[in-house]
Amino acid sequence: MILDRFRLDGQVAIVTGGGRGIGRAIATAYAEAGADVVIAARSEDQLAETADQVRALGRRALPVRCDVLERPDLEHLVEATMDEFGAIDILVNNAGGSPPKPALRTSEREFEMAFRFNVSTAFLLTRLTVPRMVETRGGGNVVNISSVAGREHAPGIVAYGTAKAALSFMTQELAQDFAPKVRVNAIAVGSIRTEALGSVLTPEIEADMVALTPMGRIGEVEDIAACALYLASPAASYVTGEIYGVNGGLVGLNMRLPRAFADD
Ligand SMILES: NC(=O)c1ccc[n+]([C@@H]2O[C@H](COP(=O)([O-])OP(=O)(O)OC[C@H]3O[C@@H](n4cnc5c(N)ncnc54)[C@H](OP(=O)(O)O)[C@@H]3O)[C@@H](O)[C@H]2O)c1
Repeated sequence: MILDRFRLDGQVAIVTGGGRGIGRAIATAYAEAGADVVIAARSEDQLAETADQVRALGRRALPVRCDVLERPDLEHLVEATMDEFGAIDILVNNAGGSPPKPALRTSEREFEMAFRFNVSTAFLLTRLTVPRMVETRGGGNVVNISSVAGREHAPGIVAYGTAKAALSFMTQELAQDFAPKVRVNAIAVGSIRTEALGSVLTPEIEADMVALTPMGRIGEVEDIAACALYLASPAASYVTGEIYGVNGGLVGLNMRLPRAFADD
């Protein structure tokens, strides 16, 4: 049955940023497909809610308080997963983000922080996790949550866009490094209705975004979870080093941000 290839029965997945938004939707999608899920984020109340949703789907959940910017937290995340489940099959590097900001008001520190949050933390966690995948299961896969901002050029978003472009390229590099045992793919996410997007949405910005999006709507977290399930599942066993766009058909950013030297 072709649908059986989309199942994750008996697998163990780590999802960073799994307390809400896209990460929560991926965690519950994986549970629905049969995986046990380790959820990492800083807010324990949100982790507990996601864990309850995973358990309600009949799977085991391990919420782990973790700040991905702290190396000891990442080491603890991997150890806690091994202690609880004894194996790792899937890693989703989802925690990330950085608000739009004009280039000339972006400090060197903010630029480096965007890179660290979106790229270096994903690199480190991947480095810590992949050997365990190979030792315990003979292989596995990584899904990185990138952005359409790392693909389409636009003003006003240099730190985030550059960082997500690096995350996408790192995905392709690591896919070459780790084949044939570990697949590495990414999703170039468009505008998805989450708390993070909500912080920049006004009714005017939302109407503009919808008008500039070929599919004519803001995306829902399940749009991303469906792709993340495909990429992590045996259905994608011949897919590695790909950056899948899930963004309503965007060929440019759907947010108009000012240029540094625009007249108005
Ligand atoms: N929503 C969009 O339109 C959109 C578009 C393109 C790309 N993306 C990407 O999608 C990913 C998820 O975004 P989202 O919209 O779902 O955001 P969100 O709703 O704000 O959720 C972010 C999750 O990450 C966790 N998190 C934040 N900082 C963390 C840290 N230092 N260590 C560990 N966990 C941390 C948050 O929990 P705590 O705060 O409790 O730690 C939360 O669980 C990001 O990589 C983002 O760049 C989103």
